[in-house]
Amino acid sequence: MNILSPSILAADYTRLGQQIQEVQRGGAQYLHIDVMDGLFVPSISIGFPVIETIRKATNLLFDVHLMILDPIRYVDRFAKAGADLITFHWESCENAWLVIQKIKECGCKVGLSIKPDTPVEQVYPYLSDVDMILIMTVEPGFGGQKLIPKTVDKIKELYAVKKKNQMLFDIEVDGGITKGNLLEIIQAGANVVVAGSAIFKGDVEQNVRDVMSVLCVATPDDKK
Ligand code: DX5
Ligand code: ZN
Repeated sequence: MNILSPSILAADYTRLGQQIQEVQRGGAQYLHIDVMDGLFVPSISIGFPVIETIRKATNLLFDVHLMILDPIRYVDRFAKAGADLITFHWESCENAWLVIQKIKECGCKVGLSIKPDTPVEQVYPYLSDVDMILIMTVEPGFGGQKLIPKTVDKIKELYAVKKKNQMLFDIEVDGGITKGNLLEIIQAGANVVVAGSAIFKGDVEQNVRDVMSVLCVATPDDKK
């Protein structure tokens, strides 16, 4: 079953609790929370108080995407704030193994992410030790960008490796996903889809339903 992880970066913060309920009613399974530090990426976004507050309002799985330098410093704080799955960037630290270990020690699932210009081979050593690989389909830092087409080839490459070795990790995509390119992305091999603007602009619950109706039936190309 494919998973939808709506990114609250695009939410209306004056109505955040209400919009999270709409996401849940529409049938999304995860909630994507983008954490930016103004160093690894130019922008600054959501931190502990927001995560702790919304944790009380929903049982959705919290998919926390750390776009911060040296993420190991903050793993335990995000776990305590309510993260279920913590994803960090391969480019953001010197030793990814230590970060993976720390996230596991804190009782969370582990995701490892790469930016559009990072070759997908860089994550191969970690595939048996993480729960998810996040292939960024835009440069991290801002919502509302257009998907970079060459990143779709990285999804296909990674999916081929996963299939060949009968591995279990999820493949998440993040950035520029729309109702128009959703099917292509799933056919390429992704099974966890982050969407910000496509969900939070307009009728949130209906947007979730529309995306879920595709995700419920779409499969990677080889399964047809
Ligand atoms: C970008 C963030 C994304 C962003 C996606 O750095 O990681 O999660 O919210 O937004 P859209 O779906 O609008 O491209
Ligand atoms: Zn994200």
